Amino acid sequence: MKTIFITTPIYYVNAKPHIGHAYTTVVCDVFARFCRMTGFDVKFSTGTDEHGKKIEQSANNSNIEPQKFTDDISKLFKDLLGYLNITNDDFIRTTELRHKKTVSHFWNLLKEKGYIYLGEYSGWYDMKNEAYFAENELIDGKSPLGGDVQYMTEKCYFFKLSAFQDRLLDFYEKNPDFIYPTQRKNEVVSFIKQGLNDLAISRTTFSWGIPVPDDPQHVVYVWLDALTNYLTVNGYPENEDQNNDKYWQNVIHFVGKEIVRFHALYWPAFLMAANINPPKQIVAHGWWLSEGEKMSKSVGNVQDPIKYCKLFGSDALRYFMLRELPFGMDGNFSLGGFINRYNSALANSYGNLCSRVFSFITKRRDGRVTRPNNMKEEDITFIDEVDKSLREAINLIQQYAFSKYLEKIERSISLANQYVDYQKPWTLKESDPKRMQDVLFILVEQIYKITKLLFPVIPIAAEKVLKQINPRYELKLVEGEKIPDDVIISEFEPLFPKIDVKAENFDVFAKE
Ligand code: MSP
Repeated sequence: MKTIFITTPIYYVNAKPHIGHAYTTVVCDVFARFCRMTGFDVKFSTGTDEHGKKIEQSANNSNIEPQKFTDDISKLFKDLLGYLNITNDDFIRTTELRHKKTVSHFWNLLKEKGYIYLGEYSGWYDMKNEAYFAENELIDGKSPLGGDVQYMTEKCYFFKLSAFQDRLLDFYEKNPDFIYPTQRKNEVVSFIKQGLNDLAISRTTFSWGIPVPDDPQHVVYVWLDALTNYLTVNGYPENEDQNNDKYWQNVIHFVGKEIVRFHALYWPAFLMAANINPPKQIVAHGWWLSEGEKMSKSVGNVQDPIKYCKLFGSDALRYFMLRELPFGMDGNFSLGGFINRYNSALANSYGNLCSRVFSFITKRRDGRVTRPNNMKEEDITFIDEVDKSLREAINLIQQYAFSKYLEKIERSISLANQYVDYQKPWTLKESDPKRMQDVLFILVEQIYKITKLLFPVIPIAAEKVLKQINPRYELKLVEGEKIPDDVIISEFEPLFPKIDVKAENFDVFAKE
């Protein structure tokens, strides 16, 4: 059986989750569901990144013990998974014992192999992003990641990153798809070509972290701590032989574009030092702006995913996020944009197709349609076109083109709506009832195929439809799949009632 290990980044717990965090998680969930449907044995992990100076400070500012502070916020991230209907297999917290053990083991291994040494570090420290930068990397007095910096000197342990410069470049060359999309790869390669310095991997200026083995004045650098989560959830070190592990052979780390460097450069270097194979691929997505601006508490434009789930359902939010943002690019999140997309794609298009076909069958045909004995040329053309769009869609999701995937499915939905308009089954009731039933059966079968592909994105609505058409449906994608020859449709609730912008009360979205 094919295997795949899909990971989200683990989320910082210094503030409650927003739509940006929801996005990475939903992308992974959609991909995980799609992979399961195509026969993969999937492992899917997410969790929270709970150490570091930034979190210690946020806890201090709130006058709460760091452990209690992280417990509370981590719970919000965990709860969000329920709201978003996420099918993760594991939720890791870096404050868990299992993780601390893995990090200590990993540290000792890197040290034994001669890749860790004690030294002194001076540089410009970006506290927000927990990273040091050289003077020449600063942009307008800030770090290249946009955070404020301060000059600091510390005694610390170093990882011999410089030893991996050539191995990394060689690795990217041999694995041209390692970093997706290519633009992100070019950024990493040009960064390495400027020369790699050794990396400071311990801190002494705060204590909220995993103590360095045998030198507890130091805590492990938060990125080394955080990246190791992927090994923890894969059972390391008890499950020691990662290179022969069925999941580790095909690990895909989904990340936002700003953390590609950590995943595509530091992480493979740490792993190479430990003789563990680097991940298969780092897949980077773009950023959501909110009402045109970067989301921030001070601007008051932080978008809360839970509000959207409560008001419109997780399916609607998942659909909007994947469809609106071409994968890899930045995009704008707004209530208006959300409602437009919901009404056009879900209410008027897919929802309407299901409603009109199903209600026509239940009202006029005793809820029963059967497979036609023969089809007209126009039927075959219609079915072929739907199949073509759906094949193209499958090809696109395999390349992480989620928005284009949905665009192709939307095309097949609009073909089906056009077929209804053209065949006018309501006019056939008296004149040609046999033809009417054939047309309806053909439509039901196309809805079934379309719905299967919508399942990873809108699982709740999709399962209702699949079950309606075939009570013994399976969540598997099968080429040329047919529905039973005899289908009975019962009463059916509208899936996505249209949102009337004027009638709804959206006070709930008032700025916080
Ligand atoms: N803790 C690190 C990751 C460690 S992984 C070993 C971290 N955490 S984060 O909470 O800041 O970000 C986690 C993910 O959320 C990233 O993939 C990031 O890109 C995503 N997003 C946070 N804000 C975002 C938007 N506004 N838009 C889209 N995604 C963004 O980095």
